[in-house]
Amino acid sequence: MQKSVYIKTYGCQMNVYDSARMADVLAPRGYRQAEAPEDADLIILNTCHIREKAAEKVYSELGRLKRIKRERRAAGKDATIAVAGCVAQAEGAEIRRRAPAVDLVFGPQSYHRLPELLAEARRTGSAIGQAFEADEKFDTLPEESAFQGPSAFLTVQEGCDKFCTFCVVPYTRGAEYSRPAAAILAEARRMVAGGAREIALLGQNVNAYAGAAPGGVRGGAKGGGVWGLGRLIRELADVEGLERIRYTTSHPRDMDDELIAAHAEVPALMPYLHLPVQSGSDRILAAMNRKHTAADYRRTVDRLRAARPDLALSSDFIVGFPGETDQDFAATLKLVTEVGYAQAYSFKYSARPGTPAATADGQVPEAEKAARLAALQQLLEAQQAAFNHACIGRTMPVLLDRAGRKPGQMVGRSPWMQAVHVMAPPDRFGRIADIAIERATANSLAGHLAAAPAAPPRAPVGAGRSEGVRAA
Ligand code: 5AD
Ligand code: SF4
Repeated sequence: MQKSVYIKTYGCQMNVYDSARMADVLAPRGYRQAEAPEDADLIILNTCHIREKAAEKVYSELGRLKRIKRERRAAGKDATIAVAGCVAQAEGAEIRRRAPAVDLVFGPQSYHRLPELLAEARRTGSAIGQAFEADEKFDTLPEESAFQGPSAFLTVQEGCDKFCTFCVVPYTRGAEYSRPAAAILAEARRMVAGGAREIALLGQNVNAYAGAAPGGVRGGAKGGGVWGLGRLIRELADVEGLERIRYTTSHPRDMDDELIAAHAEVPALMPYLHLPVQSGSDRILAAMNRKHTAADYRRTVDRLRAARPDLALSSDFIVGFPGETDQDFAATLKLVTEVGYAQAYSFKYSARPGTPAATADGQVPEAEKAARLAALQQLLEAQQAAFNHACIGRTMPVLLDRAGRKPGQMVGRSPWMQAVHVMAPPDRFGRIADIAIERATANSLAGHLAAAPAAPPRAPVGAGRSEGVRAA
């Protein structure tokens, strides 16, 4: 029987990937995607725990869903409510106690068991899935995945062993786990056959990737039967039809020689890197348990830029970490000035229950955090605007991956992750086009299609590949 599922996704790109995989698990069971929760037999909230009051936001959304469930039930229709993701992992059965309308709770390592959990919820009235190991999930997820668009996400690594003192991820996503390289290469080939031109490799600590080499053994340190991320990227670059590779999010400590060399030697690896530093003060970095100093970070950036001179950098920053003084904050501003960022995310420190920093001495007053955040953002925004404005007059390859708001408009990504707006005919969708940049705003670029380079008289038979939106 046809059923429908509505999935609401919060948080990071990995959750976007996970939601797509949940839909893949459900599709063979007859679930199509609903446009709104009111129309769905199954509603899944795929939650994020990284932001403040994440759990509270989920509970208030569940209040709304409870009413939808009541109305659907009154009309004789099904309405199963599931809470998935990191809040589900952290809160577990507490969610059902506080929100009895919820039928099903499952963490990020359990969604491959969704059909079983649904059956259990139907039988017994509720089901909870809180596995901590990612390997069983990746071994059992279906091979088939729905088309994500010309730019696709592919999870290669999950979890984190770093335990930064402010962060909940090691508690919700569990220990570091790397998928075997053969499974990743196979998934990448299927994505490209389905129309993907760009793949972004995902992991909470993606450059800690240490996956079993094809035919090799699982586990162990990098080397021998294990590939690091640099090697994986090199092999992915050989996948016919894959034109662009990105990866996120990296830890400065795990930027090894092989990965830095890949930035120099693999043309498909895009010249943009999100490399969070969090703070420019060594005292604060130590208190955060970041395991690197500001000088270590700058050295890594220098090596990356030596490998790829046009590399654009992005970062995450936290201001007002417990014990942060004016001097510490000045060190952050100094680092930003010296490194120069094309883009960045910055946050006021906020306590996450259960993490060491939450109970540390020296919590910074809210007003001070707000003032520091404003100063940091002013500097970062100026750098971003300067970076975008420097693109005016240049022509750059843009992967056109979505429709724009205006009729006839398309939006794509530059190699440096800027959104680029352009008027283009529909057959350009899913292709890389040369765009002459005319205008820049704080967050995006706009331009026109540059004259196409003269086409070769005739492509040799069997050479090249179809440039269609999507291969059949
Ligand atoms: N307070 C503020 N920001 C945080 N982040 C993670 N935990 C916290 C916290 N407790 C930020 C970090 C991280 C990004 C994803 O979220 O900068 O890199
Ligand atoms: Fe969180 Fe630190 Fe791990 Fe990143 S490296 S996920 S900030 S604990």
